[in-house]
Amino acid sequence: MLAAIGQRRTFAIISHPDAGKTTLTEKLLLYGGAIHLAGSVKARRADRHATSDWMAMEQERGISVTSSVMQFEYDGYVINLLDTPGHEDFSEDTYRTLVAADSAVMLLDNRKGVEERTRQLFAVCKRRRTPIFTFVNKCDRSGADPLTLISDVEADLGIKCHPVTWPIFHSEGGSAGFVGVYDRRMGQIHLFERDESHGSKVPMVEVGSLTDPKLRDLLGAETHERLVHDIALLDEAGHPFDAAEVLSGELSPVFFGSALNNFGVEPFLREFLELAPAPSPRETTTGVIEPAQEAFSGFVFKIQANMDPKHRDRVAFVRIVSGRFDAGMQVLHGRTGKMVRLNAPQTFMARERTAVESAWPGDVVGVMDRRELRIGDSLATEPGVVFANIPRFAPEHFARVILSDPMKRKQLDAGLRQLTEEGAAQVFFTSGTDVTSPTPIVGAVGQLQFDVMMHRLAHEYGVTARLEKINSRYPRWITGSESDLARATRDPARTLLYDSKGQPLLLFENEWRMRWALDHEPGVAFHEVSP
Ligand code: G4P
Repeated sequence: MLAAIGQRRTFAIISHPDAGKTTLTEKLLLYGGAIHLAGSVKARRADRHATSDWMAMEQERGISVTSSVMQFEYDGYVINLLDTPGHEDFSEDTYRTLVAADSAVMLLDNRKGVEERTRQLFAVCKRRRTPIFTFVNKCDRSGADPLTLISDVEADLGIKCHPVTWPIFHSEGGSAGFVGVYDRRMGQIHLFERDESHGSKVPMVEVGSLTDPKLRDLLGAETHERLVHDIALLDEAGHPFDAAEVLSGELSPVFFGSALNNFGVEPFLREFLELAPAPSPRETTTGVIEPAQEAFSGFVFKIQANMDPKHRDRVAFVRIVSGRFDAGMQVLHGRTGKMVRLNAPQTFMARERTAVESAWPGDVVGVMDRRELRIGDSLATEPGVVFANIPRFAPEHFARVILSDPMKRKQLDAGLRQLTEEGAAQVFFTSGTDVTSPTPIVGAVGQLQFDVMMHRLAHEYGVTARLEKINSRYPRWITGSESDLARATRDPARTLLYDSKGQPLLLFENEWRMRWALDHEPGVAFHEVSP
């Protein structure tokens, strides 16, 4: 088992749309020849005419709503690449996926550096101290000065950077100006060529020393001088490499390349696999579980419903934390204490289906769920295992659900409960969790998520409803003594809501009012994610 764990790397890519995530993912898969694909990137592109009904919306808009996992092998490693939805409206799904990852690859466009979505996702990784590896993409065309780019990343995100590879440009710039990258760890120069060989034929030059006259001849005097100067600057003024700092998420190794041209991807992959952590121990409410422990444990981080609308079935994606998973095994369900059988999905792996017979810590398996499981649920062969909660992130849009036919309240409640369990919606009530309370309120990260909710309520539950937007959109969960909470919630400009677990939160009309409350309610703690 130790060998299986040591071989595994489970990670996700975080980036802003258009930075090249799909392209990089495809190239990574090429190296391994993907072995398990569940709704993969390749499939996503080729199968925009996929099967299930509610995904019709996804196809219409040409976006990906769902996230899944791709497993492939490379150089003796078993790699689980957790795919995340491309559209920012589904970022909550991405946040949860990051909880299942042991490390993250931050993909940047060399012209744009850190963008908004990267920033949000980085914040989630930072909170969890996830090790982060940076790949600066699109170096085949001229971009920001790499030194400026690196210092911007450091200043913007508050992380130290250590460039492992460094781009070399001819001084005339432009796409013709990209010469290749210098690998500081290996002392090699990889020369850039637009090449369809998927990286296997990239010319590489071993350089004993940067001052080698051979190198000067190869690069030309001016380019050579700049490289020597840049590297000297990095060696002297840059952050030294420190493996412990990488593992604690304080220092990010940085690589340069071009996903589209498959350039710099392989050196990146090789060094990433060497430096990235194997499956890590996870905290439970009663202590830490080591991956090598014999007894199986894992947690649900994603539920996907209606992959086949005819069957109304759900697949729960389980990240294995410890022990060995065997298809059909019986485990204890942490929330209810009942036994659950983990049946590996068959047809749901769709297109390139693979029935999973056994799996190890770090792996993700999709198991059939007969509406027993929820996001965040713990599953284990030993009793008493409850993993730390997967945080819920505050929605940015809120709306009242107004039923067209008030007699459909029961169906609405059932639909909302289901969507909440899947993590596809967040539902709030104005008076505790009493579902008979007037008009439920739904929250979403973006408008598109509302559209999916309404579509699914209509198609799966026969509920037609309209949404009435609420102006307040700055939420904070609150905790404190009863009297402090009562005082904080008295202000009529603040809306008091309860989430599906009965935890109170306040909605503010604008950021200014929220900041004011944060400063003037001493006995109340305000939380960005559910406590
Ligand atoms: P995403 O998943 O992060 O949204 O990005 P995606 O891979 O779809 O890439 C976005 C665009 O950037 C694509 O161009 C892609 O070809 C381009 N791209 C990716 N990597 C590189 C690179 O290394 N160099 C350059 N120059 N471009 C790159 P597009 O025109 O929007 O789409 P397509 O028609 O090429 O598919």
